Amino acid sequence: MEATFIIAREDLQVDPVTIVAEGLLIGRLPICELLLNHPSVSRLHAGITYADGNYYLRNLRPSNPIMVNGAKLEEYEALADGDVVGIGPFALNIDFAQGWLVVKVSLQIAASPADAMARREASGLWDLPTTAQLEIPSEATLAETQGGAHQRKLPARKSKPAEASSTALDVFWDKRITAATKTVKPSPLFPLSGRSSGKAQSVWAPTTDLKRRWPVSLILWGMVPIALLSIAGALFYASAFAPAPISDAHNRASLNLSPPIANHVNAGSCTSCHALRTSMETKCASCHTTESFIPTVIQPHLNAGIGCVDCHAEHRGASFNAIDGALLSCFECHNDQNRKTYNGKSVSTPHGGTFGYPVVNGHWKWTGLDTEEMALRKTTLKLERLPSDNEDQWRSKQFHAVHLYRVRAVAGLPGNKDGELSCSSCHATRDPIDLTTPRTTCARCHNGQPDARAGRQVIASDKPNCTSCHVQHIKDKRHWNPGLLSRAD
Ligand code: HEC
Ligand code: HEC
Ligand code: HEC
Ligand code: HEC
Ligand code: HEC
Ligand code: HEC
Ligand code: HEC
Repeated sequence: MEATFIIAREDLQVDPVTIVAEGLLIGRLPICELLLNHPSVSRLHAGITYADGNYYLRNLRPSNPIMVNGAKLEEYEALADGDVVGIGPFALNIDFAQGWLVVKVSLQIAASPADAMARREASGLWDLPTTAQLEIPSEATLAETQGGAHQRKLPARKSKPAEASSTALDVFWDKRITAATKTVKPSPLFPLSGRSSGKAQSVWAPTTDLKRRWPVSLILWGMVPIALLSIAGALFYASAFAPAPISDAHNRASLNLSPPIANHVNAGSCTSCHALRTSMETKCASCHTTESFIPTVIQPHLNAGIGCVDCHAEHRGASFNAIDGALLSCFECHNDQNRKTYNGKSVSTPHGGTFGYPVVNGHWKWTGLDTEEMALRKTTLKLERLPSDNEDQWRSKQFHAVHLYRVRAVAGLPGNKDGELSCSSCHATRDPIDLTTPRTTCARCHNGQPDARAGRQVIASDKPNCTSCHVQHIKDKRHWNPGLLSRAD
């Protein structure tokens, strides 16, 4: 049967709480309607139920005493108006008012509940005008009666309830205790301060002072998996770390060029270029070594410490073309404005910013091609250095052999019947030999010729295409616009 309990906590500075329930559970567990937070109070200490017009107080932990008006409560007892129940250091003043049970809780400084009872009596608090008035005594009436000298008789004890209701009580409290212990995990950590009432109950602050600090070793060990995850991330989900997307060429899953320039696809891999132990140059070179392409670097660049990535950039976005970038890198580095030194070697704008010309001050300055390079150029002319040939004559022979009868006579130059360069393409007269016209021809071909592979012109047509005269990858058959050659090598 439901009853209304009003709990007035004088021990805590909180407003009275009204509880409508079948029973009032008293104890140290937060689930108790009347929470008495003290080590001498059991987790589920006592219960009050309403039956047959009586409020029965029951000891749920017989080993832990409950005092009723100074006497030990055996098992259960019907409460009377004005009873003082002692549980641990708490005194529960029982008042019946308008069919409610008012429980006023105060904390007794006295050593035992019995002492508390004695003190209470001595103070004359028994004179409270309770039953007759059927209202909760106010602080004013309390103060009023405080001074009263006459003693009030202790209320008469009510008898124990009949056998039937006793079993009913047992069943009720068995159920409550089971329910309470099920829902609450026993924990040694209970708030030291009292529970707030009403909605404020759900507003709580963590008690960090009770927590044990995390040991330092835990942080150190915690760093291990984080470090491993970072490394794994760098290896397997690395695009997250990339400064910018890598080029399409290094992302694609199939080889586009034929003959191939790479021995396998890169397919977006990061570790193919970035490795802990191997240098990037070695990585580039090992993948870019095929029958038709060998990634050579000219000797002057090797000496100056110039490698693949000085000319071929990466992480410039998906549409970036590493060849375009490399062709432009020559101007950017070989420039009077560039004050940097490379292995102690400086650079300047080459041949005065014009197209390079092989003869300077009447002597062939062009260093020519070495045997290996020359062997790679299939020429129709029989190229042979005669013992009588001086350095100038030998380089002249090489220069003529590279161009004559193999390069197409493009850009309006006269050619032979096969459309190839012949003497008249460069020399207007043969006897005496015209040495002025050749100077005007170089820029017609060694400029930004549209590149059939890229489908566009990388270098402006008024600018020298450096690699057309200074081939960087001597074993690359595609180093320059193949359309300029009359026959495939
Ligand atoms: C084709 C080769 C290549 C691939 C593939 C590649 N990178 Fe790079 N990465 C480079 C080059 C070249 C640089 C510039 C290095 C330099 O200038 O020293 C670079 C620079 C970087 C840098 C800047 C480091 C620095 O030293 O400035 C990071 C970070 C980076 N790459 C991450 C990645 C990630 C992540 C991936 C995979 C998505 C990736 N790279 C794929 C070639 C590559
Ligand atoms: C795992 C192999 C692999 C590695 C390592 C690699 N590449 Fe490539 N590279 C390729 C492939 C594949 C292509 C595209 C070829 C094709 O599509 O036929 C390519 C294309 C190129 C191109 C031509 C781009 C174009 O648009 O035609 C250049 C230049 C190039 N790579 C330079 C480099 C440089 C420099 C490095 C080192 C920083 C490097 N590559 C590392 C596989 C690789
Ligand atoms: C001095 C600049 C320079 C250096 C150093 C250099 N390259 Fe190149 N590379 C070029 C230029 C310019 C091209 C454009 C085509 C040509 O002229 O051969 C090119 C073209 C390429 C191509 C594409 C070839 C084709 O036929 O599509 C690949 C692949 C390549 N280089 C890889 C490398 C590798 C690998 C290294 C390092 C071992 C390297 N390059 C070093 C300038 C350079
Ligand atoms: C990062 C700077 C850099 C880039 C990019 C670069 N070079 Fe060089 N190059 C040098 C340096 C440094 C030397 C050595 C100069 C010396 O020995 O005095 C050199 C030497 C040369 C030489 C030899 C000069 C001689 O005296 O024999 C030629 C030719 C040349 N570069 C052409 C090119 C071409 C073509 C390109 C573009 C594909 C290019 N370079 C890209 C720095 C660069
Ligand atoms: C691609 C242009 C070109 C073609 C084609 C060409 N020459 Fe030359 N020739 C030159 C240049 C450049 C020079 C050096 C000019 C200078 O000294 O200023 C030269 C110089 C000469 C000289 C002067 C001696 C020397 O070697 O310096 C003779 C002779 C000569 N050429 C003959 C011929 C003959 C014969 C043909 C045809 C079989 C021919 N050339 C085709 C560009 C060409
Ligand atoms: C009609 C076009 C054309 C004209 C004009 C021309 N060249 Fe060339 N030149 C070529 C072609 C094409 C090649 C490449 C030949 C090859 O790959 O074997 C070449 C090769 C070269 C080379 C050798 C590059 C190498 O290492 O393989 C040099 C140097 C050169 N030319 C300089 C000149 C000079 C200087 C002039 C002006 C006097 C000139 N050329 C006029 C088309 C021309
Ligand atoms: C038409 C052919 C041709 C073109 C294009 C060309 N050069 Fe040259 N280059 C030569 C010849 C021939 C020489 C040797 C004569 C000389 O030293 O003046 C030379 C010499 C050089 C030298 C060594 C001498 C010096 O001044 O340091 C460098 C470096 C050089 N060229 C770089 C370049 C660069 C970079 C480009 C592109 C901007 C380029 N060349 C374009 C033909 C050419």
